[in-house]
Amino acid sequence: MVMNFVSLQTKWKFDRMVVTEVLCDKKKFLDLLLIGDEQESMIDRYLERGRLFVGLDKDCKAMAVCVVTDEGNDVFEVKNLAVKQCYRCQGYGRRMLEYVEYLLPGKILQLGTGETPSTLRFYYNLGFEYSHRITDFFTDNYDKTIVEEGVRLKDMVYLRKFLKRTEV
Ligand SMILES: CC(C)(COP(=O)(O)OP(=O)(O)OC[C@H]1O[C@@H](n2cnc3c(N)ncnc32)[C@H](O)[C@@H]1OP(=O)(O)O)[C@@H](O)C(=O)NCCC(=O)NCCS
Repeated sequence: MVMNFVSLQTKWKFDRMVVTEVLCDKKKFLDLLLIGDEQESMIDRYLERGRLFVGLDKDCKAMAVCVVTDEGNDVFEVKNLAVKQCYRCQGYGRRMLEYVEYLLPGKILQLGTGETPSTLRFYYNLGFEYSHRITDFFTDNYDKTIVEEGVRLKDMVYLRKFLKRTEV
């Protein structure tokens, strides 16, 4: 997907990825959003109120997405994070999160995820810690059974990270 730059602001340049915020036509990125959250009706619950960050490759094509919502009381939530398959395990997911963390010094960043072993490892590696769980979230809210890495997703596990204030 080639980007329409009219809808963009806030650029953050990494080696081979530019992160930018998309302010309108957010559904253009549905293909990538569905990698992080496979049911469109669930994405609709947070996409408009959330901030959508998109990682662009050297051809200005979307390679990663991250949606963050303001949950109040200094708590922000990563609702969706996904990196296109061919770009995985090259540090881009970490960089998307680092960008979000850079924007939110002194805040709490949380996320809810299924108990997929590699996803949990990914977030624990990046300093997130277990907070709490919502029992039966996936079985109650998703139309289809989700099985990842042999695990049937049932509860939503919440992880949290307290973001340090950057010294000036
Ligand atoms: C989860 C996801 C966003 C990770 O993005 P990525 O670009 O592949 O991850 P990175 O390359 O940035 O990895 C960052 C760190 O986590 C580690 N990591 C990545 N995948 C890992 C895994 N499966 N197990 C353990 N560690 C892992 C990396 O080694 C790296 O550590 P380092 O910085 O010390 O080298 C990506 O795999 C994805 O889009 N998955 C499908 C959608 C999804 O599950 N989203 C999360 C839903 S909440």
